[in-house]
Amino acid sequence: MSEAVFDEQAVVQTVQQGLQALLDAQSTDELHALRTQYAGAQSELTRASKMIGSLPNDQKKTVGKIVGQLRADFGRAYALREQELIHLEEQQKLESETVDVTLPVNNHLGARHPLTVLMEEIQDFFISRGWQVSDGPEVETEWYNFDALNFGPDHPARQMQDTFYVKGDKSRDAAGFVGSNMVMRTQTSSDQVRALITTGVPLYIVCTGRVFRTDELDATHTPVFHQCEALAVDKHLTMADLKGTLDALAVAMFGPEAKTRLRPSYFPFTEPSAEMDLWFPDKKGGAGWVEWGGCGMVHPNVLRSAGIDPDEYTGFAFGVGVERTLLFRHDINDMHDLVEGDIRFSKQFTMGR
Ligand code: PHE
Repeated sequence: MSEAVFDEQAVVQTVQQGLQALLDAQSTDELHALRTQYAGAQSELTRASKMIGSLPNDQKKTVGKIVGQLRADFGRAYALREQELIHLEEQQKLESETVDVTLPVNNHLGARHPLTVLMEEIQDFFISRGWQVSDGPEVETEWYNFDALNFGPDHPARQMQDTFYVKGDKSRDAAGFVGSNMVMRTQTSSDQVRALITTGVPLYIVCTGRVFRTDELDATHTPVFHQCEALAVDKHLTMADLKGTLDALAVAMFGPEAKTRLRPSYFPFTEPSAEMDLWFPDKKGGAGWVEWGGCGMVHPNVLRSAGIDPDEYTGFAFGVGVERTLLFRHDINDMHDLVEGDIRFSKQFTMGR
């Protein structure tokens, strides 16, 4: 075996180079690479350490000392620089993540649709009077939408309310009405018997939401629109309670002078039934009666559908169009504005809400 030779100058020079490189390093990644290069398994320093065993005995100690010293110097310098770089990198990260709260805000914010806001306003009116908000499904059994509401099987009103029938499975309703056709609800009155069955009496509910009819979209119609249904069933309720509630809602929506009037009409699920007109002073100083919705005293057959004794309980119900309410309030003339979802339109009504 040829004698090993320890080239002290070469090793010292390399380590010094390494020390300088540590000082120049700009990142911990770079630093880690330098450790591999100058103190790793393939480095000059490690080769020197390994060589010590095969040196002549008289050299082992001195060379061991020198190599040990160099490794310790490198290690110390490494640790120091590592601390500095970790600190530096943390600083850089903090700076890059700083949020400048003085920058102007992006003003492309969304706006809530005025119909949504109006429905909440209507709900608030009822909540403030102690009523509950109810919410039935939009795909509804024909039974809840028509049969339970006293529409006979061939009742012309089934065709009057141009119904979207839903293909496919018949219902498997929790209340046991298996086999009813499914429809897109044509009226929020569909929630009346549902709520009577699930919640029971006395009942005071408001149900706002989407309803569907096979109308073409034009300036005054849309196939998807919104209704607000109110239903109260209790002992001793009369038409005076209905009228009082309608007037209070009119005032809440259209100001202190607003009022309502009833005209005889017909709905299968109310008896007597009435069309309800609204009067309010409009913004241009004019005033007039406009048709706002339908109403009446709950028909005894509807109460019977829900298993409630009509000799013990009476009730009143009314339904108003939410679109109509919004059109009247803001003198909007075209239904297209309500369905197109143009944010510039919505923003006019819902600033700050
Ligand atoms: N559901 C009826 C409609 O859509 C309105 C109405 C509701 C009438 C409640 C009477 C009672 O035309």
